[in-house]
Amino acid sequence: MGNEQRGGFASSFGFLMAAVGSAVGLGNLWGFPYKMGANGGFAFLVVYLVLAVLVGFVIMLGEFVIGRKTGKSVLCAYPKLGKKYGFLGVFGVLVPVLILSFYCVLGGYCIKYALANLGDVFHAKWGYLASGMDTGTFFGAFTGDMGAATVFSLIFVVLTGLIILGGVSDGIEKFSKVAMPALFVLLVIVIIRSVTLPGAGAGLEFMFKPNWEPFAGLGWLHVLKTAAGQMFFSLSLGMGIMVTFGSYLPKSENLIKQSIVVPAADTIVAIMAGLAVMPAVFAAGLEPGAGPGLLYVTLQTVFESMGAAGPIFGFMLYFLVFIAAITSSVSLLEVLTSSFIDKSEEKGKAPNRKLATIITTLVVAAGATLVSCDGLGANGVWVPFQKCFEQIPVWCDCWLDFFDCISEGILMPVSCLIMSLLIGWKWGPKFLQDEIEQEGNVFKAKGFILFCFKFAAPVILLFVLFGQLVDFGILNVAI
Ligand code: PFF
Repeated sequence: MGNEQRGGFASSFGFLMAAVGSAVGLGNLWGFPYKMGANGGFAFLVVYLVLAVLVGFVIMLGEFVIGRKTGKSVLCAYPKLGKKYGFLGVFGVLVPVLILSFYCVLGGYCIKYALANLGDVFHAKWGYLASGMDTGTFFGAFTGDMGAATVFSLIFVVLTGLIILGGVSDGIEKFSKVAMPALFVLLVIVIIRSVTLPGAGAGLEFMFKPNWEPFAGLGWLHVLKTAAGQMFFSLSLGMGIMVTFGSYLPKSENLIKQSIVVPAADTIVAIMAGLAVMPAVFAAGLEPGAGPGLLYVTLQTVFESMGAAGPIFGFMLYFLVFIAAITSSVSLLEVLTSSFIDKSEEKGKAPNRKLATIITTLVVAAGATLVSCDGLGANGVWVPFQKCFEQIPVWCDCWLDFFDCISEGILMPVSCLIMSLLIGWKWGPKFLQDEIEQEGNVFKAKGFILFCFKFAAPVILLFVLFGQLVDFGILNVAI
């Protein structure tokens, strides 16, 4: 009964699609291309790859090992390794609640934009063009409209919940096996259009031309901080996802191989996202930037400049971003749902996926309603502590940043830091070896992996934490 309610992956390919689906998300599409271009182009990519090998790979491996060894999702996995580590499990369920509360809002915006472009394809009244607004005004009007923004956010939350209701193999796995290849095909179509636009070369140059200028002086610290933070979020680390997915893996699965393939696929899609976005932005004579502005304002302007074909490509792009976002959000809601199921089982109650999904979806819906009503700060829905500051720091300027600061800024790097220290210095090589070498698998590159757990990962993670505290305005240092 318990296992039936928990579930598991039915195939290696299904697991891969689900894990890559989790990693490929808004972080790839709106963060990576711009950050790469603004921080040295190809030189940034080299730094990013070195960090992915030294830190991303081992932290992912550590999360898979903890999940599969304990057979539990994050809330119950850590206490199973020692009562005093229970707080890491609590971090592991707090983070998904906070991140999903704003991620679902951004996912809801994608649905709105996909539909608005589809409306234009059919010259419908509900299309973007019928609004008669320019792109910036349209974005402000939509995000500032509490009712509309909340409805779309809640549609995204409910869709995420419905997939989770299906379980691991019939919900997440089946969905990812269709959605990820579809995302790939759409991405290739948009790339072909983007790189063949007149003037697209400037975008390719922005992204790929090695530029050492950002590395000059102490600037290299900024580049390192940006690459480390991006890598960490983009690989879905410190969110409890890979622990939970690990708990669904059969003992025959090669954990080292999966910890290489998932980051590699994520990085390839991030570069492809850059090829889809940047050439088009430059071809339209626009300035790139990161975040919601790039996705919902700049890109919509690009599609408008494409004439009759614009809405078709607009629909394709926003639909593919929606797919990327929902395959990520399901992985995070699964962390909550499976933690709920495992906790009920521990308490001796019959685990019930349906009930667990409904409760966790409602919690996320409440958070998403708060963030969407806030309208990225435009509606000024009360944010704690804001009144304490004359000049409002980033961390409390809106609910989205507040939730992001606590999760991405503090809880995620702290929990990964503690995990790598525990594996590197306390639990030791045997902890990894016993799990990695199950069913004849070989623990390759042992010395390198242990070095990373002991030294490389903790140092870089301390740096990520420091960088996040600076970015969110908690530490007042210029880097
Ligand atoms: N790797 C994901 C991304 O780049 O968007 C991170 C993520 C965010 C995963 C939100 C899951 C999620 F719900």
